[in-house]
Amino acid sequence: MQQQQLVDEIKVLMDLVARNTTMLADSVMEIDVDEYTDPSQFQREKTELFRNYPQFVGPSCVVPEAGDYFAFDDTGVPILIVRQPDKSLRAFVNICSHRGAPLNECDHGKAKKGRMFSCPYHGWTYDLEGKLVGVPFGKEGFDTIDRDALGLKTLDLQEKHGMIFVMPNPELTFNIDDVLGGIQERLSGFGFEESFYLGAKQVFTDFSWKLNMDTFHEYYHFEFLHPNSIATMAYSNVATYRQYGRNHSMGSPTLQINELKDVPESEWVPMNYSSYVNYIFPNTVIFVVADHFQTWRVYPIAPDRSVVYHSMFLPQEPATPEQRQEYEAYFQMINDVAVAEDYSLVDKVNRGLKAGIPRNVIIGRNEPGVQNMHRQLKGVLG
Ligand code: FES
Ligand SMILES: [Fe+2]
Repeated sequence: MQQQQLVDEIKVLMDLVARNTTMLADSVMEIDVDEYTDPSQFQREKTELFRNYPQFVGPSCVVPEAGDYFAFDDTGVPILIVRQPDKSLRAFVNICSHRGAPLNECDHGKAKKGRMFSCPYHGWTYDLEGKLVGVPFGKEGFDTIDRDALGLKTLDLQEKHGMIFVMPNPELTFNIDDVLGGIQERLSGFGFEESFYLGAKQVFTDFSWKLNMDTFHEYYHFEFLHPNSIATMAYSNVATYRQYGRNHSMGSPTLQINELKDVPESEWVPMNYSSYVNYIFPNTVIFVVADHFQTWRVYPIAPDRSVVYHSMFLPQEPATPEQRQEYEAYFQMINDVAVAEDYSLVDKVNRGLKAGIPRNVIIGRNEPGVQNMHRQLKGVLG
């Protein structure tokens, strides 16, 4: 967001604080508890949301240089994303054409010598464009294969406004503007191209990926679930809400926001007084706070098991080991709050959902983000 947008958002937040309210959905929503637990719905979600729908990978700075790669296999299709010498990006199915090993671990890193991938199983080698360029013992062992036809399978990848999306299904393509739905207006100016990627924490949880996402979409629970952590920094149940296609963006005020009443508007530093949860359908939250941002990507494993990747992006690489340690400690603290407070509570919610008691889950007008995710899920799954 640009300064003026941030200033305008602060004014709306101050007004909400003054009126002790939050932006509201039109009506209360109810969804059947089966939506979280039904195994057939789970299978449709895996296919329609995680195989046939474009996936947010990360901001452009996860792969800044030629030869940098990012690999993940949580959608069900192993995916390898590679920055090319001309700075464009390509995505491949990360399955070796020989006997199917992935070319590297799921992580980010650099291609061998910055220009090739060598399969860890029998050493077949591919260049950055995915062409098969080396087959050990090839003349004798593989004398009849057509090497040109055995490059890595390509996936549709698009990068725009500092964000990378990929389509896991090799048969499908997508339009990135449709996927973004305009949310880039809330995300520009935060350094998605040039930030420093500190790393990601992987957390496995024994509940639905949707229960996991639900916790990010409302500020209603702060004073009850986080009285000694988040609620000491931000208002409970006060937030802006804006819709962008299937996505949404919510702003939240810090407890100090009223200090700005005594400061001329031209001197406001809005990011000291607000933070933003940006939801990219179906499974990503980009949390912009103070001088940096974090992403949370959640993937389904089973109806009641999911995995979360919490990634941290800093304005620049820490200059000293001490500075790095400080950022690492902060990163760990945020992750610990989610695990200790949100996830341990959601674990118990999950037991209630699995109890087999027919009922509806009720989502209030003050939880428009939660409503949006479930509305969009219905829109895609029918
Ligand atoms: S599986 Fe990759 S070289 Fe054999
Ligand atoms: Fe929370």
